[in-house]
Amino acid sequence: MTGALDNQTFRTAIVPAAGLGTRFLPATKAVPKELLPVVDTPGIEIVANEAAHAGAKRLVIVTSPGKESVVNYFRPAPELEENLERKGKTDLLEKVRRGPGLLDVEVAIQEQALGLGHAVAQAEANLTEEDTAVAVLLPDDLVLPIGVLERMAAVRARYGGSVLCAFDIPKEQISPYGVFDVTDTDDADVKRVHGMVEKPKPEDAPSTYAAAGRYLLDRAIFDALRRIKPGAGGELQLTDAVALLIEEGHPVHIVVHRGGRHDLGNPGGFLRAAVDFALDHPDYGPPLRTWLAERIENEGR
Ligand code: G1P
Repeated sequence: MTGALDNQTFRTAIVPAAGLGTRFLPATKAVPKELLPVVDTPGIEIVANEAAHAGAKRLVIVTSPGKESVVNYFRPAPELEENLERKGKTDLLEKVRRGPGLLDVEVAIQEQALGLGHAVAQAEANLTEEDTAVAVLLPDDLVLPIGVLERMAAVRARYGGSVLCAFDIPKEQISPYGVFDVTDTDDADVKRVHGMVEKPKPEDAPSTYAAAGRYLLDRAIFDALRRIKPGAGGELQLTDAVALLIEEGHPVHIVVHRGGRHDLGNPGGFLRAAVDFALDHPDYGPPLRTWLAERIENEGR
């Protein structure tokens, strides 16, 4: 790999995980939503694995006071490991070691819930001079199959600036998202971004391309985050910092991801993800498929 390309890739991934998880109450009274298992693996490990797969060496988890268990999940568990080793439970041992072995996990604390932009800004103190760009992965969003961050890194290597992941979604469903104003490039799945707006009404949305929880951001984002004012929902929005960079001439592109996506942020989306992953599981998949088919067939009888 050349030095120039090295400079365009990222080694630090930031995962904002400071929310209250209100859509998952009452479970989230006691368990942070990022630790709820998709089959047997917490959503945050799936996202950490994606970051490590794309080359990240370090994960900065931005969390809030009282949610330390999210970070502790990535610490080794020597007593448990010793116990499993003694009993010869090598499969379980491998699973228990997998999370801590992915990358170096650090914590940043967001004291007040002031928005996604504010959460990302809290990770700046964890960065070093080498971090010319950072990846941000929202743990509510599973983008499948993994690999979009690598495509985004290639787009940054070509155009510089920042690169975000987008989904093309029906206009009437666009309001919960950050939405891009774009023009085409010579690649149908890469677009140049001219503006970005957070949670527009469908009639105000500049396109049907919505931000999908994966960002490869030039370090300039941290300066922009210091200059934004509260936006949609009265919160400091990451979208507004990206929009500010665009206004100032910073190149921003999107990679349109044509694959699947799960929203782990609400019980309905979470269940879909769990069923999707379980159906692919060698042990749980076949009996689940049989049971589901029977269950659906018997519905209404
Ligand atoms: C956040 C972002 C939004 C993005 C969305 C993707 O919104 O602010 O731009 O489209 O994630 O899931 P939230 O879901 O936190 O309201």
